[in-house]
Amino acid sequence: MQYSQKVLDHFMHPHNVGKMENPDATATEGSPACGDQVTVYLKVDEQTKVIEDVSFLSYGCASNIATASIITDLAKGKTLDEAKAITWKDAMEALDGLPPVKVHCSVLAADTLQTAISNYEIAKGLKPVPDFTKDTIVNELKKIIYPQVGEDIVTLKMVKYVGFTDGEVVIDLNIQSFDTWRDNVVEEIKEHLEKYPDVKNVQINLP
Ligand code: FES
Repeated sequence: MQYSQKVLDHFMHPHNVGKMENPDATATEGSPACGDQVTVYLKVDEQTKVIEDVSFLSYGCASNIATASIITDLAKGKTLDEAKAITWKDAMEALDGLPPVKVHCSVLAADTLQTAISNYEIAKGLKPVPDFTKDTIVNELKKIIYPQVGEDIVTLKMVKYVGFTDGEVVIDLNIQSFDTWRDNVVEEIKEHLEKYPDVKNVQINLP
């Protein structure tokens, strides 16, 4: 697998690694695609809302360590609002790209940073605990990468319909039976959504 020099540099000499003592917020997320995990720690200036310090622990692969390293670099010194705009695509760009089958590793790192920020805002009363809605489902689907091309399934227009009523999620997917990644995508969707207490059942319709 071909990695950029930046990925190799951040993997071999990662920045901002380590458990933080007395963080203001933390988040641990796992990737349904591979089972790996990342924890992000934040220290935030309560007045200015600037991220004064950020660190991570990774139980993931080289791409995940490199992405967590660069994404914590990107977040450090930014306000919470600025850091909320950081995406996995920013991390990928800053690393000069990742192989398509490793893009989900950068999604895990970016998602964990965003969850830590969200946890901080909820804990400080800056926002309410979000309701589970159809938008929550679509946001989760945007985190699922189609490994062959390294892009999310919503952007690739593989999702034709999303419904949510009384805990029942219905998703129509436009992925053909001969597609070797179809089972992976279906399984990942279920793992992303079934972790929510509001979800009783996930029905995925296929062509
Ligand atoms: Fe699991 Fe990269 S393969 S995070």
